Amino acid sequence: MARPFSSSSPISIFFAILLLSINTISSSRGSPDEAATAFFIFGDSIVDPGNNNYIETTPEKKANYHPYGHNGFFDKPTGRFTDGRVIVDFIAEYAKLPIIPPFLQPSASFINGANFGSAGAGILPETNQGLVIDLQTQLKQFDEVRSNLTEELGVEKARELISQAVYFISIGSNDYMIGYILNPTMREAYLPEEFVSMVIGNLSQSIQALYDKGARKFCFLSLCPLGCLPALRAANPKADGGCFEDISALASAHNNALAAVLTSLAHIFKGFKYANTDFYSWLKERIHNPSKYGFKDGVNACCGAGPYRGVFSCGKTKEGSDYQVCDSPEDYVWWDSFHASERIHEQVAKLLWSDPPSSVGPYNLEKLFFGEEKLRIADVVDEGDGLGDFGTLA
Ligand SMILES: *[C@@H]1O[C@H](CO)[C@@H](O)[C@H](O)[C@H]1NC(C)=O
Ligand SMILES: *[C@@H]1O[C@H](CO)[C@@H](O)[C@H](O)[C@H]1NC(C)=O
Repeated sequence: MARPFSSSSPISIFFAILLLSINTISSSRGSPDEAATAFFIFGDSIVDPGNNNYIETTPEKKANYHPYGHNGFFDKPTGRFTDGRVIVDFIAEYAKLPIIPPFLQPSASFINGANFGSAGAGILPETNQGLVIDLQTQLKQFDEVRSNLTEELGVEKARELISQAVYFISIGSNDYMIGYILNPTMREAYLPEEFVSMVIGNLSQSIQALYDKGARKFCFLSLCPLGCLPALRAANPKADGGCFEDISALASAHNNALAAVLTSLAHIFKGFKYANTDFYSWLKERIHNPSKYGFKDGVNACCGAGPYRGVFSCGKTKEGSDYQVCDSPEDYVWWDSFHASERIHEQVAKLLWSDPPSSVGPYNLEKLFFGEEKLRIADVVDEGDGLGDFGTLA
C-alpha cells in the first residue's frame, strides 16, 4: 500500500510547488528591510479612530454614536468623524497593513503602528486644553510605544522599524478655529502672523523631536480652506453665503509656512523624506466644482441643522438639538458641520498615495512605504524626473 504522500507523488510535488510559490510571493515584499513597515499617526478629528472614546471630554469631541459610521463599513460607530473610514484607514489598506488601532484601545498591538489622533487636538497645548490629547502628549505616547517595541523586538529591530515607518501628521485646524478666532485672549495677545509662527514653531519642534527619535519618513496633510466648513460658512459675518475668508487666510498662511519649513528641514536633516500636498486648493476645487469629482453638493453638510447644516448637532439627541441626515453621504463633500465625507477621505488618500511630484511631493506615500528605487523606472516613463516641480504650494 503506497503512502498517500510519498515524496514522488504528484500531490507532494504540487504541494512543493505551492510552498515554493508562497515563499516567492512573501519574499518579494518580505526582504528584511521591507517587511517591517509600520504607520504612526498624529493629529485631530481628521484621523482620530476613537481615542476620544477613552477620555473625559465634551460630547461634540466624540463620535461613537449614530449616525457617525452611517455607511456600515465598521459594524458600529467607532469614534471616527465621518460616515465611514478616514484617510489613514485607506492608506493602511494601500500599504497592505491592517487598520491601525487607536493608542488608547485596551490591549491593542502596535507592531504595525499606532494612531494617536484626538478630535479637537491642537499643536499648541492651550487649544482645547484638558479636553483633548494635544500633539506634545501624543508624542509622549509614541515614546511609550517605541520603548515597548524596543523591549519586544530588541534594540536593532526596533530601530529598523522606527526608521522604516511612515509618520502621518494632520493637525492645526483647531489651533486657528478654537485657539485663535474664538479666543479673544489670544487674538489680543498675538497678531495673526505671530500666532501662525508660534503654531509653526511648535509643529517644527515636534517634527524634529520625532526625527531625533529615529523617524525619517513623514507625510503631512496641510490645512483645508477652513472658512468653507459648513459651520464657518454659517458663521460668516458677511452672510453672503460665501466662505469665511479671514479664517481661510490663516490656514493658507499656515500652509505656506509649513511648506517652507519642510523644504529647509529636508536640507538640514540627513535622510528626512516627506510627502506634502496643496490640500487647500485641492479641496477648494471640489467645493466649487463638486460634479467634476462625482459629488452633488460641495457647500452643505449631510448631517446637521440650520443654514448649510452648519449647526454642529449631528447625532446629538439632547433635548432641543435637532438634526437632519441626508440620504446619500457619498454625494456630499461634507459629512457634518466640520468634517468631510468618507468619499473625500478616500480621494485624499489616493492623491497622497500615488500622485506625481507636481501635486504630491517630493515623495508620495507609495514611495515612502515601498521604496523609491523600485518605482523610479515607472516615474521616468510617466513624467520625467518631476522632482523639481514641487515647492510651488499656494
Ligand atoms: C508597555 O508595556 C507596559 C509593561 O508591560 C504596559 O503596562 C503598557 O501598557 C505598554 N504600553 C503600550 C503602549 O503598549
Ligand atoms: C510654542 O508654543 C508656546 C505656547 O504654547 C509658545 O510660548 C512658544 O514660543 C512656541 N514655541 C515656538 C518655537 O514657537
